[in-house]
Amino acid sequence: MVDPPIPLEPRNDPFQHALRNTSQIVFKRLLHFELLTSTNEYLKQQGNIGEQEGLIVLADEQTAGKGRLNRSWYSPRGGLYFSILLRPISIKAEQVPLITLTAGVAVAKVLQSSLGIQPSLKWPNDVMVGQKKVGGILAESAFIGNDIDFVVVGIGINANSSIKDFPVELQAVASLQDLVQRQINLPRLFGYLIGQLEFWYLRLCDKGFPAIAPHWKQLCYHLNQQVSIKEEDKIIIGIAKDIAADGSLIILTDKGRISIRSGDVISLQYLG
Ligand code: BTN
Repeated sequence: MVDPPIPLEPRNDPFQHALRNTSQIVFKRLLHFELLTSTNEYLKQQGNIGEQEGLIVLADEQTAGKGRLNRSWYSPRGGLYFSILLRPISIKAEQVPLITLTAGVAVAKVLQSSLGIQPSLKWPNDVMVGQKKVGGILAESAFIGNDIDFVVVGIGINANSSIKDFPVELQAVASLQDLVQRQINLPRLFGYLIGQLEFWYLRLCDKGFPAIAPHWKQLCYHLNQQVSIKEEDKIIIGIAKDIAADGSLIILTDKGRISIRSGDVISLQYLG
């Protein structure tokens, strides 16, 4: 049997200090590891053994970082990789996608306010700067009957990542340090992100998605643009018109309005 990973000593850890500077209503506890397979996988195990809402797991490096649709998330040192554990009471099982969208708003607002860059959100979970992806969000849930037991929301950001060392097929991503031409203070960025994730999550729980949707739409990468969406083996082409109350993307096609629950968006405007 493999020994369980051991978190870093909290004393003098700048990430713990950064967490203490946030409001800490929901997110009060951080386990920081040098190396994990995946912070989402680790936190799902904790969720399954009854860990409370609000635990954060952060790793400096992941050996099996996961992305959406069973993709992998390349996670060398220099990036910011963490997951948060939620046990939302007022959110229904079919509304889990709203948590991903809400987390996207939180991440984009932090990048805007702390780094002065103009990020946008590509439905459902990509954080973009210009036409390149700088971050991604992966929400994974467990259910008891028809109710949510817990949701693990994982966030990965290419912060001080050296893109030239990424595998060739991943070179089309961006790194924050290249965008702002300086090293990113990871603990500080982490603290801001936790603060905003808490703010927007509580807003979603208290006021529902109508209080989030206008912000998401304002940040959207492809609203009112022609897009092509790959949904399983179908390709749908139309204009991205809106975001529905359940988080689906509403597309106006030549056959009328349709709503897409999962898939990959390609913005045709950017294909040249
Ligand atoms: C995506 O863009 O498809 C989502 C990427 C999410 C990556 C983060 S990194 C921290 C957390 N742990 C994982 O294994 N994945 C998420």
